[in-house]
Amino acid sequence: MTTPADLFAAARAASAKSYSPYSKFPVGAAILAEDGAVYAGANVENLAYPEGICAEGVAIGHMIMGGATKIKAVAVYAPRLALCSPCGGCRQKLAEFSDAGAKVYLCDDTGVRETVTVGGLLPHAFDTEDIG
Ligand code: THU
Repeated sequence: MTTPADLFAAARAASAKSYSPYSKFPVGAAILAEDGAVYAGANVENLAYPEGICAEGVAIGHMIMGGATKIKAVAVYAPRLALCSPCGGCRQKLAEFSDAGAKVYLCDDTGVRETVTVGGLLPHAFDTEDIG
């Protein structure tokens, strides 16, 4: 059984793998997916700055490649910022693979300090079946 503390530990471990030579702002994210597995990611920057990928996006990519599609909970950890909260783009990415009630654990160096939800972070998310 994966606990919030486990997800924090996975996010912190992931942040140590961050490639962030430009911002020097490492971030780690760890997703608990509906298959019970934990998928982690760190931000991966690029000299062409807008091409960088956030930790949450990398974790989502790992989840998809692992065969899961649904996020039950996600922890985000940044060593340089307590309670680092997903950016706007990441909120939309998380919403794509979550129910509104999916938990988002905001962490500091000691662990999970605040629990919010994907729906709380992104009310009125862009969502339609009428596309394609
Ligand atoms: N970053 C993330 O990885 N996730 C967030 O939710 C906030 C921002 C990264 C992007 C960039 O590599 C660095 O943090 C500074 O913005």
